[in-house]
Amino acid sequence: MNHPETLATLAASVSAPANARHVRLLAWVREIAALTKPDRIAWCDGSDVEYDRLCGEMVASGMLKKLDAVKRPNSYLAWSDPTDVARVEDRTFICSAREEDAGPTNHWIEPSAMRKTLDGLFDGCMRGRTLYVVPFSMGPLGSPIAQIGVELSDSPYVVVNMKLMTRMGSAVLDVLGSDGTFVPCVHSVGAPLAPGQQDVRWPCNDTKYIVHFPESREIWSYGSGYGGNALLGKKCLALRIASVMGRDEGWLAEHMLILGVTSPDGDKRYVCAAFPSACGKTNFAMLIPPKAFAGWTVTTVGDDIAWLKPAPDGTLHAINPEAGYFGVAPGTSEASNPNAMATLRANVIFTNVALTDDGDVWWEGMTATPPAHLTDWQGQSWTPDSGRKAAHPNARFTVSATQCPSLDPAWDDPAGVPISAFVFGGRRSDTAPLIVEARTWEEGVYKAATMGSETTAAMAGGKGDVRRDPFAMLPFCGYHVGDYFAHWLAMGRRVAKPPRIFAVNWFRKDRNGAYGWPGFGENMRALAWIVARCRGDGRAHETPLGLVPDFDDIEWHGLALTRDAFGDLMAVDTGEWARELAAHDALFAKVGARNPEALRRQRETLGRALAAA
Ligand code: OXD
Ligand code: MN
Repeated sequence: MNHPETLATLAASVSAPANARHVRLLAWVREIAALTKPDRIAWCDGSDVEYDRLCGEMVASGMLKKLDAVKRPNSYLAWSDPTDVARVEDRTFICSAREEDAGPTNHWIEPSAMRKTLDGLFDGCMRGRTLYVVPFSMGPLGSPIAQIGVELSDSPYVVVNMKLMTRMGSAVLDVLGSDGTFVPCVHSVGAPLAPGQQDVRWPCNDTKYIVHFPESREIWSYGSGYGGNALLGKKCLALRIASVMGRDEGWLAEHMLILGVTSPDGDKRYVCAAFPSACGKTNFAMLIPPKAFAGWTVTTVGDDIAWLKPAPDGTLHAINPEAGYFGVAPGTSEASNPNAMATLRANVIFTNVALTDDGDVWWEGMTATPPAHLTDWQGQSWTPDSGRKAAHPNARFTVSATQCPSLDPAWDDPAGVPISAFVFGGRRSDTAPLIVEARTWEEGVYKAATMGSETTAAMAGGKGDVRRDPFAMLPFCGYHVGDYFAHWLAMGRRVAKPPRIFAVNWFRKDRNGAYGWPGFGENMRALAWIVARCRGDGRAHETPLGLVPDFDDIEWHGLALTRDAFGDLMAVDTGEWARELAAHDALFAKVGARNPEALRRQRETLGRALAAA
């Protein structure tokens, strides 16, 4: 603070509630308001009344449509601007003090130059709008593992999404007290309104910046109102900034779902799984075991992010820092994910899905036969022969985790859950086998570091190319990826009982170009083998890539997959692996001098084992 002012003066100047007792927070709100010049400041309490009021205001302004009260109670639909439909990786910056600390996988701009740019962009950017003060907790409120953030945003859509995705509101201010630590997050859609100017349905700006200052643990986002660009608790805080906190404090912030598996004898194991975006993380997290697995249950702790800390019992314990799901809608159906469909029955915000004529929602893959008529995500009349998608491929639902039928009883436990296994998987039509277990922690880190995945339509860069996506963290690691690999290697040494590490590929195709593995609930067959390995009663044999099951080590009842088809899914093709190793070498060359020596050794060992096979 530049000028000593009394708390009461400060609080009055920002119309803060009585429990906003944090002097630095109050001064910061005032400072950002002076910069962005909103018409009003509103402190969000996180109540249902506030949520309903904001949704009502957005319905009145045209930003939201209320869905049919019987078909989809208390639910809304937003259609974004067609230029603002996904995370913008090429506009995402890690502005560490030194360029080398951002590393080769992040965009970097010198921090003072970036601050100058942001000062210019944010000057007056909230004119005509309300600045919402959104206090939120990532992780259970008051838990020693949780982190508090405060997002200042001019988007009411952000406020209502943050209520579903985080523990948001007044109670966070109580936990913050007068001197607690919080991550300041400033967000603007970058669309000031002149007096009397009519707002557009989805304000945003063609200029976009998603900026992280890792040393000061600050986030600034400009120009987008969509998803991870705007809901700053998710990718920006819980992954990019938290990964830096984890590096400095000895824990891990990962792009991982967390699920629990209970065997018929009552033994319960928790598994974390990392897949790149749009590889079915939500489906896997909510898996329903097929009939052959009577007596087994799978429960959901989280579908996107895990924070892991060493626990006194020698294991790694994980919490889900989020409180809701911001899932990809297309492809979600009663067949692929019945738990998600049940979760979405009411109290949902849908974004960029299609509207049915009777006031409900639809997206590609929701039903086998599309409705005869819809209004598509751009507000145009749509029929099945329109030749275009009714929902955007990256259309989303936002919903509270508490509505999920498979929610794990410990999902909110501040102590987290003990993790027995890490699973890493990408989308690969070839090369990568269905399942392999790493023999050692270092081999597992190598597998995760070198994982690749085919890009999908929802990603910039087009469809079909394999991009290396280490640990599924490529767009989310807030520091040098070589240091991140080293941190993982060190974490394995730090815990007495590190989880086992597995690599999977649900997307391998057969000779005819069809998926060779049924996926979805049938992934339980692979998961059961993983659990058996963790319990010590699953068989495996050695291959150049690691430990694998035989056909007879997997439960096949109820699934007609032949021994030969399994052989194809597990095959290691020499030509494909020569290309794969070249891609690993290219990745390591890009990582450069900070790539750990242990990973170079793993590469040599793998090369020799494949050559000898
Ligand atoms: C997400 C993503 O939204 O990974 O979860 O893109
Ligand atoms: Mn994700």
